[in-house]
Amino acid sequence: TTRGTNMTKRILLASPRGYCAGVDRAVVAVEKALERYGAPVYVRKQIVHNKHVVEVLERRGAIFVDDTDEVPQGALVIFSAHGVAPSVHEAAKRRELRTIDATCPLVTKVHKEAIRFAADDYDILLIGHVGHEEVEGTAGEAPQNIHVVDGPGDVERVVVRDPNKVVWLSQTTLSVDETAATVERLRERFPRLQDPPSDDICYATQNRQNAVKKMARQSELVIVVGSSNSSNSVRLVEVALEYGARSAHRVDNASEIDDAWLDAVETVGLTSGASVPEVLVQDVIAYLVDHGFEHIEDVVAAEEDLLFSLPKELRRDLEENT
Ligand code: F3S
Repeated sequence: TTRGTNMTKRILLASPRGYCAGVDRAVVAVEKALERYGAPVYVRKQIVHNKHVVEVLERRGAIFVDDTDEVPQGALVIFSAHGVAPSVHEAAKRRELRTIDATCPLVTKVHKEAIRFAADDYDILLIGHVGHEEVEGTAGEAPQNIHVVDGPGDVERVVVRDPNKVVWLSQTTLSVDETAATVERLRERFPRLQDPPSDDICYATQNRQNAVKKMARQSELVIVVGSSNSSNSVRLVEVALEYGARSAHRVDNASEIDDAWLDAVETVGLTSGASVPEVLVQDVIAYLVDHGFEHIEDVVAAEEDLLFSLPKELRRDLEENT
């Protein structure tokens, strides 16, 4: 049912959007483990921060637990894409668990940076959200050296041992702009502050934010598909508003869209977080088309073709199988 005769109603579809290489690898790892070893397969924490993905895998026999002590002795457990602290590996070993580590290689890269700077006895200022699994994992690599800095407002309370030996690192899924603001404030306090050897905010986070920046000003409404605990999805809503969208909302799926959001809207910008399957975006498109938004234009900020190979523990068993 198409309402009215307004032919200018359109959807701007962000590209890239949805799955990044790290999420794809983690989800496929659980699927392959279910095929190879059979259900149940235990997964510590949500494999990726998306409700739909977790529900689908649960139906296929994955059991999500909060910690390794909920996994039966000797069973198989997969660690999520967000990474884990060394203490989690040790706890798993004590329970004689078989582990598959689905930590995104770009998170592992930040862990390695933390280990290196801690070995050189730096104070490490880890910019990120307190309580986020990735931050807990990274901070766990060197708890004595790492201070979590949760945004520009958190800079004042940081205490370091030697202001001449300080480096900042970050969570991979932050707002690029807010992180730059936090670093600026940190540098005012610690002029000798060192930068990370390379970007910690990952390519996927940056590209998805860039695409939203490109579409925001032309969109009266931006819809971001993603779950509430998905850091990078929540950032996309903030970026849309900062860059001129009149309104922006995050939804888990099309059923959460409020018809009232579409009042007097001609252009809807649409994107999805890095943990979101494309089928959920297609459902939103179908809903919008049904409400008269019949023209779809791609807004392209980057091309992506990165692919990560599966975790090595799993690859080895899969190869034996063939
Ligand atoms: Fe990895 Fe970035 Fe995705 S850190 S899991 S590629 S959002």
